[in-house]
Amino acid sequence: MKSRKSILVVGSMNMDMVVKAARIPRVGETVLGGVFNQYEGGKGANQAVAAKTLYPDTSFCAGVGDDSIGRDYLEYLKQKNLDVSLVKVFEHSHSGVALITVGKEGNNIITVAPGANLLLSVEDMRSIDFKRFSHVAFQLENEIATVEAGLKCAKNAGCSTILTPAPAKLLDEAILENVDYLIPNEIEILQVLRGYTSMNNAAEALIKKGVKNVIVTLGASGSMLFNKDGQRKYKAHPLRPIDTVGAGDCFAGSFMAGLKIYGDNLDEAIKLASAAASLSITRMGAQSHAKLEEVLKLMGKKDL
Ligand code: RIB
Repeated sequence: MKSRKSILVVGSMNMDMVVKAARIPRVGETVLGGVFNQYEGGKGANQAVAAKTLYPDTSFCAGVGDDSIGRDYLEYLKQKNLDVSLVKVFEHSHSGVALITVGKEGNNIITVAPGANLLLSVEDMRSIDFKRFSHVAFQLENEIATVEAGLKCAKNAGCSTILTPAPAKLLDEAILENVDYLIPNEIEILQVLRGYTSMNNAAEALIKKGVKNVIVTLGASGSMLFNKDGQRKYKAHPLRPIDTVGAGDCFAGSFMAGLKIYGDNLDEAIKLASAAASLSITRMGAQSHAKLEEVLKLMGKKDL
């Protein structure tokens, strides 16, 4: 059997249609923006490309439509040498598309038309040989039943599991008990359980429900790790934001790569992810990920 060294990201692929504007419009308002750009996005693909950029042995599983967006996107991923053999093409659906406005400070609003992302099924998860992989990541742009089945199959196969709960929704124990690393942002952590208004209390409750580690991403303020040993703060690197779309995905994908690179050393993996995510916001596009040398340089390291 092939040794278990690979990363698998199961998730979404969207084509991001992006306009940068002086500010995000209010409801009912029209603002004139700058030029239109199209970037490859989707939380799953963003994580897979981020992981692949730092750790080559990475595979991706997703659903895409049989249309020009889907065909071009798959070609782009192949050019990056990402293993897309688990990506399914669905004939009767459009590919995922995201409409995005980016404001002057890099902040953004996003609306997704998920299309084929919602066709990835429970059966698709059951057909994956998860024993090939050591670390498997999910997000919530697929059907929740698919994510739940995927997490269960991955856990039963002995994988470490990562879940980015975005777009956020309430999560029950059938999901939470199979999550080794939950990576919400500060808004999402208050949306995955009912009745919490404080990050610390929500993290504590999540750990009681079976999540092994909660890592809350806090944008420019860094991130917070919570687990049974307590909590720890990590800093972000202060770089000028141009576009923060996909920064959380870059964090999650780079974190997985960090777990591989540093032999599951959580502390080192979070530091690597923080540096990679800090660099990602200095460029337009959800997948403008820095190479390992650049990330290490920002961390003040010459090599691993
Ligand atoms: O997290 C950023 C991503 O969210 C974008 O790339 C967009 O496609 C949506 O999925």
